[in-house]
Amino acid sequence: ARRVLGHRNLVFVGLMGAGKSAIGRLVAQMLGIPFVDSDHEIERVSRMTIPELFEAYGEPEFRALEARVIKRLLKTGPRVLSTGGGAFMNDTTRAMVLANGLSVWLKADLEVLWTRVSKRDSRPLLKTANPKQTLSDLLDQRYPVYAKADVTVQSRDDDKDIIAAETVMALA
Ligand code: S3P
Repeated sequence: ARRVLGHRNLVFVGLMGAGKSAIGRLVAQMLGIPFVDSDHEIERVSRMTIPELFEAYGEPEFRALEARVIKRLLKTGPRVLSTGGGAFMNDTTRAMVLANGLSVWLKADLEVLWTRVSKRDSRPLLKTANPKQTLSDLLDQRYPVYAKADVTVQSRDDDKDIIAAETVMALA
């Protein structure tokens, strides 16, 4: 699988709660290349949390910062990169990812996503009157775009190691 990647990055895309960071970290270990999470990198360079960034600057500014951070990470790879759920929706970011990486859409059903995201209060986009409905709407809007990723892997409630192994096999 590592040979398939060459000097390209392996980029995880998909909705919040799909397990992009957890699976990405495991896949990076399996391939022996560094792992980075774009949200963590954004928080590191801005010295703010994602909710604080949304609150202080709004979503458009967050998206601009996200695009810059991902561009830099893609240029300094190869690595396994997990991206925030909205990153691949941005035309510029998606074009960069498709050109400089092998993209994996970690696809999950609404119930799986909801079980995971409802445990934490860290997603500004879900601070709505009906967050489960919002998540369902995002799923409808975004799935056709995530489907442009090079590879699709179904994320279930199984052992993370199994999903990670399935991802590596899907690359071969
Ligand atoms: C977002 C997903 C989040 C984070 C921000 C916006 C989105 O990342 O970037 O809250 O637009 O789907 P995760 O997918 O890692 O939760």
